Amino acid sequence: MRATRRSLLTAFLSLPLLDAAKMRAFAQAAPQLALTRSCDDGDGPTLQREAGPYFKPDSPLDRDLHLGSPGGERITVAGFVFDNGCRPLPGSLVEIWHADENGEYDRDGFRLRGHQFTDVQGRWWFNTVVPALYPGRTRHFHFKVQRPGGSVLTTQLFFPGEPGNADDWIFDDSLLLAVNRTSDGQFGRFDFVV
Ligand SMILES: [Fe+2]
Repeated sequence: MRATRRSLLTAFLSLPLLDAAKMRAFAQAAPQLALTRSCDDGDGPTLQREAGPYFKPDSPLDRDLHLGSPGGERITVAGFVFDNGCRPLPGSLVEIWHADENGEYDRDGFRLRGHQFTDVQGRWWFNTVVPALYPGRTRHFHFKVQRPGGSVLTTQLFFPGEPGNADDWIFDDSLLLAVNRTSDGQFGRFDFVV
């Protein structure tokens, strides 16, 4: 049976924490999930990227952003927030904003904008839609991540296999989501290191 977004999220949320932090047992616990970069692979903190012109403060506390774009292709994006010692960071702010299925940002309201705080194991997830392309950019999500009391990481996450990645000067392959296609959309994983 083909995985669903929910089954992959359940697999992600049932990972033993220590193993999850090291990513070793991840492939055993959830073999259908692609591996993402590890916090201990020597790459250091997640790369900063510009916020761009469409950030708005005061986004709602909300992880079910797809409700505002019922026509979009569904994607669940999930991951940990780690410090650079692979320790999960509970209570970290994770904020997302992105274009809709037509490549447009909501500049009047807060559609496809939201934030949450990582759970006791340092995990976050959003249920949203796949952003469409807009002129001049490859496909991407915008994020801000802030550990409790820490400075804000502003960055962007990208999709593997996008033809536009090579031509987008903001793109970096260390910011690629690990994406699985499921029977009801996509599941993307990325672990922030701050
Ligand atoms: Fe953007």
